[in-house]
Amino acid sequence: MKKIALLGSTGSIGVSSLEVVDQLAEEFIVAALSTHRRIDQLYEQAKRFRPQIAAVTGAAVSDDHLAAFARLGVELITGADALQQLAGFADYDLLVNAVVGSIGFRPTLTALQRGKPVALANKETMVIGGELVSAAAAQHRAAILPIDSEHSAVFQCLLGESEKSVEAVLLTGSGGPFRTLAKEAFASITPAQALKHPNWSMGPKITIDSATMMNKGLEVIEAHWLFHVAVEKIRVVVHPQSIIHSMVLFCDGSIKAQMGLPDMRLPIQLAMTWPERKPSVFPRLEFGSRLSLTFDEPDTARFPCLRLAYDALRQGGTAPAVLNAANEAAVQLFLEERISFPRIAELVDASLQAHKLEIKPDVEGLLSADLWARKFVSAAGK
Ligand SMILES: NC(=O)c1ccc[n+]([C@@H]2O[C@H](COP(=O)([O-])OP(=O)(O)OC[C@H]3O[C@@H](n4cnc5c(N)ncnc54)[C@H](OP(=O)(O)O)[C@@H]3O)[C@@H](O)[C@H]2O)c1
Repeated sequence: MKKIALLGSTGSIGVSSLEVVDQLAEEFIVAALSTHRRIDQLYEQAKRFRPQIAAVTGAAVSDDHLAAFARLGVELITGADALQQLAGFADYDLLVNAVVGSIGFRPTLTALQRGKPVALANKETMVIGGELVSAAAAQHRAAILPIDSEHSAVFQCLLGESEKSVEAVLLTGSGGPFRTLAKEAFASITPAQALKHPNWSMGPKITIDSATMMNKGLEVIEAHWLFHVAVEKIRVVVHPQSIIHSMVLFCDGSIKAQMGLPDMRLPIQLAMTWPERKPSVFPRLEFGSRLSLTFDEPDTARFPCLRLAYDALRQGGTAPAVLNAANEAAVQLFLEERISFPRIAELVDASLQAHKLEIKPDVEGLLSADLWARKFVSAAGK
């Protein structure tokens, strides 16, 4: 049985990961779980899966909580550093990283440096420190198994193929809830409207990223580092039905696509059971129903975040870390109704322009660029 340490178990990906564990109970042992603030939900998960360790990173833990977890035989660790401790010292075979935001970067790196494979939902890891993370994976021979549905699709399309035969990676994206909305209407978009994604049910940050198309931009950077594909070879295709999860175009003109229902349990399960495929009870795509697949070009005039992400990847160094942190901070301001929807892209753009680029940053350099961008956005967003 595979011992799983699941960071972010109370989120959308975390809960879906535990559904995968439930339907393949004979395959997995849950060794560790974590939440930021939802301690009651963590307690219910701990009662059900009995991990050795549970971590709480962003809320005060009462003596009652400590006693309740102790009665389950679960060690509770707390504080901002708890994910690092968990990744560094817990006994597990696979780290499933399902936290949101740049906080996921260090635990990914730590797990890889221990030679542990990582099933990675936390795309911010690859955006901030893709170069260091892929070097650590290669050095310690630890696999990074993508959970993001697009990257899982590319991963599957590339099986049995050589890197040099790849002409382009075609990342599909639904276009989000504002795909057809006129640019003039963007200023009055509310958080409630932006939080209604047409196809996927996800946590709030990635849902806003999908609405601005920053999500696709982050995925372009993630794809570059995961598959070692040059930026010019990564294209975005708008595909509103979210049935084709991504494609690879090969040098002979052949295109492979990976399809399925928009259900994250599919790519999560593959990453968790890899190198095997296991049966699942999750719903299948039905071709009997009326199924039409359409494709379009992305519109970077209405969705400038996508262009900014390409620019940051081309600049390299600390630029993607700044893009990511500025975006996290701006999305938070938008969710708090303190800035408008178009202001997210403006603040990310301003951060990239004001930032003093460092070309070969180490971990500390990346984290200080991240902190700088958050401070910049919080000052500029006032
Ligand atoms: N959801 C999807 O369908 C989907 C698809 C592809 C990729 N992803 C990626 O997967 C990651 C997770 O997304 P999600 O939608 O599952 O997010 P989510 O629902 O917001 O869940 C995030 C998880 O991380 C925890 N967390 C939040 N802030 C934290 C912090 N500062 N320190 C430590 N833990 C923290 C949350 O704890 P609380 O519960 O206490 O808030 C929760 O357990 C993101 O990187 C996202 O881009 C998601």
